[in-house]
Amino acid sequence: MNNPIAGFSKLSKEEKINWIAKEYFSTPATAIALLKSYWNSDAKLQKLHDEFIENTLTNFYIPLGVAPNFLINNKFSTIPMAIEESSVVAAASKSAKFWSTRGGFKATVINTEKIGQVHFIYKGDESKLVLFFAQVKSKFFANTESITKNMQKRGGGILDIILQDKTNLLPNYFQLHATFETKDSMGANFINSCLEQFAKTLKEEALAFELFTAEEKEIQVIMSILSNYVPNCIVRAEVSCPVEDLKEKHIENPVDFAQRFVQAVQIAEVEPFRAVTHNKGIMNGIDAVVLATGNDFRAVEAGIHAYAAKSGQYSSLSHAKIDNGIFSFWLEVPLALGTVGGLTSLHPLVKLSLEMLENPSAQELMEVVAVAGLAQNFAALRSLTTTGIQEGHMKMHLNNILNQFDTNDDERSSISKHFKHHAVTHSAVVDFIEAMRK
Ligand code: MEV
Repeated sequence: MNNPIAGFSKLSKEEKINWIAKEYFSTPATAIALLKSYWNSDAKLQKLHDEFIENTLTNFYIPLGVAPNFLINNKFSTIPMAIEESSVVAAASKSAKFWSTRGGFKATVINTEKIGQVHFIYKGDESKLVLFFAQVKSKFFANTESITKNMQKRGGGILDIILQDKTNLLPNYFQLHATFETKDSMGANFINSCLEQFAKTLKEEALAFELFTAEEKEIQVIMSILSNYVPNCIVRAEVSCPVEDLKEKHIENPVDFAQRFVQAVQIAEVEPFRAVTHNKGIMNGIDAVVLATGNDFRAVEAGIHAYAAKSGQYSSLSHAKIDNGIFSFWLEVPLALGTVGGLTSLHPLVKLSLEMLENPSAQELMEVVAVAGLAQNFAALRSLTTTGIQEGHMKMHLNNILNQFDTNDDERSSISKHFKHHAVTHSAVVDFIEAMRK
């Protein structure tokens, strides 16, 4: 048990599975059968998925659902969502329907600038470094021409490069801080390739710069990498309507509802414990669309949470107000997304999701994703400030409990009849199943 293994990555998939099964499972044959039962019967498709990562054993399913009826900038869309949490897709669909009769969602991309940095150590006279940078700046552009050529044809490229003095934070620490426009690609490979070339140019040119002393010539590049913090790649999504129009089945008193809703948002604006959960609800919508469209949800998560803390205190991403009888609810989030490159042309379900969204540009996808986040937040706050979250959530979660207990169709029908009139809790469902089976 738990023996280390040399050369694991060189083993075939079968050999890897056999080793894992033998090392970690009391019934290896069962583990092997389970892993293989998740293989796709189409060997070519399976190979494609195997090769996305390293040491692949099998596939790990997450449901792909859809939320229809999203009216965004006067156009209806059905939004694909890849997510494992029950009630998220239902909540998005409910919000979509609610707002489709109240003017729909408005979304606007505010800017699309991405950032990358070369972090380096320079020991010497800063005024000489400033002079050096001014003299060689054009070389950073010239030496990356082969990388930027295609991006420039698409209207993107390197926007600017500045020298930043960070010696107040760490001794001798400077940066090349570069900004990029990457059009419909997320741009990670493009940016990192440019940055690595900047680093080479920086070192070579420093060695040749006559005003530098021997020590000053030895610029030490620590790393060159894009930043997932993109505070100038922002999209805004909003809804608004007269307070009276908020009235519906669960909102009998729209004035009271609107006030409670605004207060709930204000609490998330001032109270970090609540803000984290509030924003988690927004991320339920954002991540699900980001994942379904083959984008990097870890990058999106990291960037958005940093943005939520930009004032120095972690706070709500969304805001709400009532002004002259008009209820408005909006959010602004940084989103570095792509609709070309990466997984977008490789994963068949990603291609399908993008086609479902009518093959959006990266900017259009930013709008859809931000709207999904706002819709999710609206649904959560609407439940929280009216019925409470558990009623709806547990109704949706009921299926998971029924699956856990392997219930048959007859049992399901009795359970669903009973719980139409009783509160769904895990223990109530378990008690009911046990009583029924006695
Ligand atoms: C659950 O996944 C998300 C919520 O907790 C969000 C919120 O509290 O606003 C319901």
